[in-house]
Amino acid sequence: MIRNTIKKYGLISKTFHWYMAGILLFVLLLGNLSEHTPKKYYDFLMLVHNSLGIIIFILVILRLLWRWSNPKPENINKSRLLNRLSNLVFFIFYFGMFAAPITGYVLMNIEGKEVLFFGVELVNIVESNGDFEKLAHNFHGIAGDLLLYTFVLHFIAALYHHYIRRDETLTRIKFNN
Ligand code: HEM
Repeated sequence: MIRNTIKKYGLISKTFHWYMAGILLFVLLLGNLSEHTPKKYYDFLMLVHNSLGIIIFILVILRLLWRWSNPKPENINKSRLLNRLSNLVFFIFYFGMFAAPITGYVLMNIEGKEVLFFGVELVNIVESNGDFEKLAHNFHGIAGDLLLYTFVLHFIAALYHHYIRRDETLTRIKFNN
C-alpha cells in the first residue's frame, strides 16, 4: 500500500518518517560534535552536516506535499487534550525541519564560508556580516535544540502509547504493518 488510508499509513509516509528521523538525528549529532572536532576532521564533518541538512530541507517539502495529498490516518485517541498536544508537537517538528537548515545556510553565508552540497558550491542568499555571526549561530543552535527536545518528547509519547495505553499508535507507523 503506497498511499495512506484513513486507518493506516502507506509505504511512502512510513519511509519519510523513519528515514528522515535517522538522517535528522545524525545531522543533530554532527552539529553538536562540530565544536569538539579537531580541525583535521572539521571540514569533512561540516560537509556531511550541511549536505544532509539540505537534504532534510528538500525532503520536508516533499513530505508536506505528500501529507497534504493523502488521507490522514484518523486519531486513535479520543482525548482532545492529547490530540491538541500531538498536533502541536508535529507543528514544532515541521517548523524545526525548515528552520534548522535555513538558519544553518544563513549562518554559513554570514560567516563568509562557501556552502558545499556534496562538493558542489551553492549560491549565497545573504551577505557575510561579522556583526551577526553570534546571533545567527544562536538561532541555528536554538532550531537544533528545538528539534532535539521535540524528538525526546515524541519518543516518550510513542513509548507511552505502546506500553501504557497499549494502542496502535506505534505499530501503525511500522513497516511490517
Ligand atoms: C535539519 C537540519 C539541521 C540541523 C538539525 C542542524 C543542527 C545543528 C546543531 C545542533 C548545531 C550545533 C549548534 C551549537 O553549537 O549551538 C549545528 C551547527 C552548525 N550547523 Fe547545522 N543543522 C542543520 C542544517 C544545517 C545546514 C543546512 C547548514 C549549512 C548549510 C548548517 C550549518 C551549521 C554550522 C555552520 C554550524 C556551526 C558549526 C560550528 O560552530 O563549528 N546546518 N547544526
